[in-house]
Amino acid sequence: MNYLQIFSNASNFVEGVDTAFMVIFGISLFFLIGITGVMLYFVYRYSRKRNPKATQIDGSNTLEVIWTVIPLILVMVMFYYGYKGYAVMREVPEDAMEVKVIAYMWDWDFEYANGKTSKDLYVPVGKAVKLNMMSKDVIHSLYIPAFRVKEDVVPGTDTYMWFIANIEGDYDILCTEYCGLRHSFMDAKAIVMPQQAFDTWLADYNPELDKDPRGLEILKANACIGCHSLDGTKLVGPSFKGLYGTEKAVLVDGKERTLTANDEYIRKAINEPNAEVVVGYPANVMQSYSKVLTPEDMEAIIEYLKTNK
Ligand code: CUA
Repeated sequence: MNYLQIFSNASNFVEGVDTAFMVIFGISLFFLIGITGVMLYFVYRYSRKRNPKATQIDGSNTLEVIWTVIPLILVMVMFYYGYKGYAVMREVPEDAMEVKVIAYMWDWDFEYANGKTSKDLYVPVGKAVKLNMMSKDVIHSLYIPAFRVKEDVVPGTDTYMWFIANIEGDYDILCTEYCGLRHSFMDAKAIVMPQQAFDTWLADYNPELDKDPRGLEILKANACIGCHSLDGTKLVGPSFKGLYGTEKAVLVDGKERTLTANDEYIRKAINEPNAEVVVGYPANVMQSYSKVLTPEDMEAIIEYLKTNK
């Protein structure tokens, strides 16, 4: 992670957002120091020792007008810089390159015009990029701090954002809406490269060769791998890696039993996930998928699990 990136002019929005931030920060700092100073002075000047007899003051129209008009002007100034920085973020240039973003617990998929997908976001330098964002499950939020862009990804509706990356490099992408157990693992990179290198990267794609096996496609489409890793990592549920054919200690009605993870066991684990819970994992976390997956889907999953050693 390169922390200095945050100070670079990494995107076309850095200037506008930073100006709004500094204006608001400056006004806040001025009042923090000013009010604290006046307060300390009053404590000193009007303590009982120096001012034994309190004075009754009955309002002042002049003062009230001043402390209404000045704050009004200040908040209008803040609004002006805020709106100026924001409005341009909603106006996408016509020639923007579009990328589809799919968010789910707990990862990002980026899909380009030719169908190629990636786990990191690849973009050409100096070109407007529009992200069309959708969520498969809960609310996520895509945040690229160095670019000063952030937008919620909301299930049931599509959101978008755009930017022009100015400097080649790798930038952090974070999910900035708490979305469950592995929210903090939901990160990726925005990789900014020269146009030519990007074109080469994009063209290096064969839809047939790069296609996932059917079973894996189903696992991804139903967000199974959010809880069951493919690489042996322990998540909410047991990993799919090397699962098929192994012996598993499971709890059946509170009693421990050992089973072999065969076709029958996997089908039951999908249809009645809480009947045979592997020891060491929480029960009643997973819902039944008996109405979601067809018998053919389940066969495809089992075939895939056999290959994921
Ligand atoms: Cu996705 Cu937090």
